[in-house]
Amino acid sequence: MENGSSGAIALCYGTRPQVVKASVLRKSLTQVGAVVAIDTGQHYDYELNALHYEQLGVAAPDHCLEVGSASHAEQTAAILTRAEALFHACQPDIVVVIGDTNSTLGCALAAAKLRIPVVHVEAGLRARDMQMAEEINRRVVDSVAQLLCTPCAAATERMRREHPDAVVFETGDGAYDVLRQRASALPAVTDVLPGRTGDRFIYATLHRAELTDTPELLRSVLEVLSQLPVPVVLAMHPRTRAALLATGDLPAGAGSLVIMPPVGYLESLALTRQAVLVITDSGGVQRECYWLGTPCITVREETEWVETVDLGANRLVSPQQPETLRAAAAALLDAGRGAWRRDAYGNGDAAARVAEAVAALLGHRPTAAIAD
Ligand code: UD1
Repeated sequence: MENGSSGAIALCYGTRPQVVKASVLRKSLTQVGAVVAIDTGQHYDYELNALHYEQLGVAAPDHCLEVGSASHAEQTAAILTRAEALFHACQPDIVVVIGDTNSTLGCALAAAKLRIPVVHVEAGLRARDMQMAEEINRRVVDSVAQLLCTPCAAATERMRREHPDAVVFETGDGAYDVLRQRASALPAVTDVLPGRTGDRFIYATLHRAELTDTPELLRSVLEVLSQLPVPVVLAMHPRTRAALLATGDLPAGAGSLVIMPPVGYLESLALTRQAVLVITDSGGVQRECYWLGTPCITVREETEWVETVDLGANRLVSPQQPETLRAAAAALLDAGRGAWRRDAYGNGDAAARVAEAVAALLGHRPTAAIAD
């Protein structure tokens, strides 16, 4: 436990992007309370977990729930029961959860049922698709949280409308804090890329269940990537790799497609900044493109980060329409760097603003002072 001024704050996370955001949240929350860092262990591979601790200088968690992979029900249930036992043992005054993963859901529900106030960081986002596990998770967590820290104006308005009894505070996005702190010291792209890639390349990441769980969709998207006129570097998530292995479709890299293992946060930012185009289904990579000025195609039916689309930084392409993906990629290859405004998700001080709101909830200041 790290010592702050007063009040015990359990900070819960468990997946790759959450470790990144926890890196700044942990520091800022330590200014207002004693932080107990809890990693659920949802992501456990070195590339998805320990590598990010190392790169971002995050101290080891105080507790790891070691839940690993399982069905949604089993994974969420394991997080719920283990988090409950841990909250009984360490008696936090507040539980802070991030985003929309099964880790977010399990820890938030465990806290809510013990009547411990829940703080939801990244509250108020919607994809309007209840088939997505993440959409279910984020709606439930928004419903049980006392303090909703929102990344953007649309999320703030939605939360004020849907949850008039909760405190809603617009903090911006902690991922921007991390990017701003790290962007000046990224590795050289030549040290990250496999030899045959050259200067002009597309950076790709694909991991969503909506794509990986439908082999023909995944296959047709990879086929388009392998036929684009510049090399496509795909940093392959273990879920995608497992899906391709299961169907015997794992390509060693064909045509323009160059497959590499998942890369670290710093390497991913370096590739995103240097690429002529990014093709992804990751929420984090969409925003990183927006902040770094790299054109982005999101291979999904919808996005929670609609501002990136509205500002012209991001184009949605359905995975059901591989020809549209091919045409969009061709059209954007020479689009150049984006000149869109960069402040849709705050100014890079989200972690400090979350801490300010948590301090108010802990009773250091009236919550009304931050809610207005
Ligand atoms: C999870 C989140 C998603 C987030 C993503 C970031 C949920 C429902 N989804 O998706 O919102 O964008 O993390 O990466 O919580 N696996 C490994 N090694 C690991 C982790 C996972 O091999 O370290 C494989 C396993 O086969 C596992 C599969 O990936 O079954 C899915 O992992 P899971 O954590 O459930 O979901 P993600 O796809 O990573």
